[in-house]
Amino acid sequence: MKIAMIASESRPLCKTGGLADVVYSLSKELVTMGEEVAVVLPFYQQVKATIKTPVQFVESFTVDMSWRHHEAKVYQTEADGITFYLIEHWYFDRQNFYGDGDDGERFAFYCLAARELLSRHEIPDIVHCHDWQSGMFPCLIKENEYFRNVFGKTKFVMTIHNPAFQGMLERDALGNLYNLPESLFDEGKVRLDGRVSTLKAGIVYADKVTTVSPNHHEELLTPEGGMHLDGTLRLREWDFCGILNGIDYLEFNPHDDPFIPMTYNVTTIVKGKKANHDALLQEMHLTDYGRPLFSLVSRLTWQKGLDILFPAVEELAQRGCNIVILGSGERQYELEFERLRAKYPDKIAIYIGYNDALAHRIYAASDFFMMPSLFEPCGLGQMIAQRYGTLPIVRRTGGLKDSVINFDSSNQDTSNGFGFDNYHPDDMKYTCVYAYDTWFNKPLIIKLMKNAMKTDNSWRRSANNYLGVYKELVGQ
Ligand code: GLC
Repeated sequence: MKIAMIASESRPLCKTGGLADVVYSLSKELVTMGEEVAVVLPFYQQVKATIKTPVQFVESFTVDMSWRHHEAKVYQTEADGITFYLIEHWYFDRQNFYGDGDDGERFAFYCLAARELLSRHEIPDIVHCHDWQSGMFPCLIKENEYFRNVFGKTKFVMTIHNPAFQGMLERDALGNLYNLPESLFDEGKVRLDGRVSTLKAGIVYADKVTTVSPNHHEELLTPEGGMHLDGTLRLREWDFCGILNGIDYLEFNPHDDPFIPMTYNVTTIVKGKKANHDALLQEMHLTDYGRPLFSLVSRLTWQKGLDILFPAVEELAQRGCNIVILGSGERQYELEFERLRAKYPDKIAIYIGYNDALAHRIYAASDFFMMPSLFEPCGLGQMIAQRYGTLPIVRRTGGLKDSVINFDSSNQDTSNGFGFDNYHPDDMKYTCVYAYDTWFNKPLIIKLMKNAMKTDNSWRRSANNYLGVYKELVGQ
């Protein structure tokens, strides 16, 4: 089967969030399973500066966006059997991938260029779109007679990774950016809360809609969790499902991880984690008070539930625990962590920024990994933590509920973490304290850590589910 991924980011070339991991891991796994996969990406400045694989010029063509006539230059590279098409334009010649105020226009260009590109090569059986940046793609095909014919047999899948970003545009953007009639707005097909939403367009026009966990699938269908998309999703209910993400088992492998001081497996977990723990405390200049190590590796944004985290961190520090934070994002959160670090300098360490190697060392060294997310369509951190025998402490929202079995004192044979439901600082604090208390029962905590390590979060399981969706659509 020929599959094309339309996504604004994918490892190994560019990443700001979990989307990049998922697009890459899924593509890689599909290739291993014998499918042909191409990923279409913007050729960001940062990719140009860091790309290691050889890049070949493919072709250039003009992309019309109403009165604008842009030249798109397409390049190609290969990694892990995946073909990456890179669309070059000055829209992408800047430092940031997103956030400069003209994202609507830049990703409209990206979709139009991707459509032209795919139409000039062997037509894919499946076009798989991810999040709002590619949401308009199925509509761009189905509302245009020429492209409808060219892509006559192609089926479209739309995956929602983050429903909070909805690609909101004004009504006139339909004509101005997408060469589409404004009647699509009047008919309600692409309208959400009085504006155009490219994410909604994806939901309406795709042949199948998915999100990244079964529980988030349920949440999205409710007014409380649907972020105003629940009505539209309920109309598509029979074509909508949740598939839990996996993690890359080669990249995250405590038994063979070049970034960690001592590798380990289920049988050597105690020795291995102790060595990694001691090394990390030393690296971060922290004092060991013989208490557990709690950590957080995350984008520091409101979605991640940091508002309910701070009292828990303070409580843990007062009990002599170590806390290590790695991430960057909204200034107020960075400042609050700095404030706590200044108050407990030998217990709390913070690294503001993105550091892959340090992230691996933190996963390997920690006892507990905190994810109090306000909402979390899937979440990858909790699965990585489990792989390293670190117990996640999560708010049971979205995929966190699907992937963490809360320890309730009676399920020590199956539990692989800790969880709570209510979004409140006290619930986070009490759950952390419960985990802290449990930690002193060594045989029990080692049992739970081993359970976590044995949890199957591999991509093979998820990729099989996606393949099932594709096959159903193309009638295989
Ligand atoms: C988004 C979601 C996250 C999910 C990731 C990959 O970043 O917020 O929960 O794991 O996409 O699907």
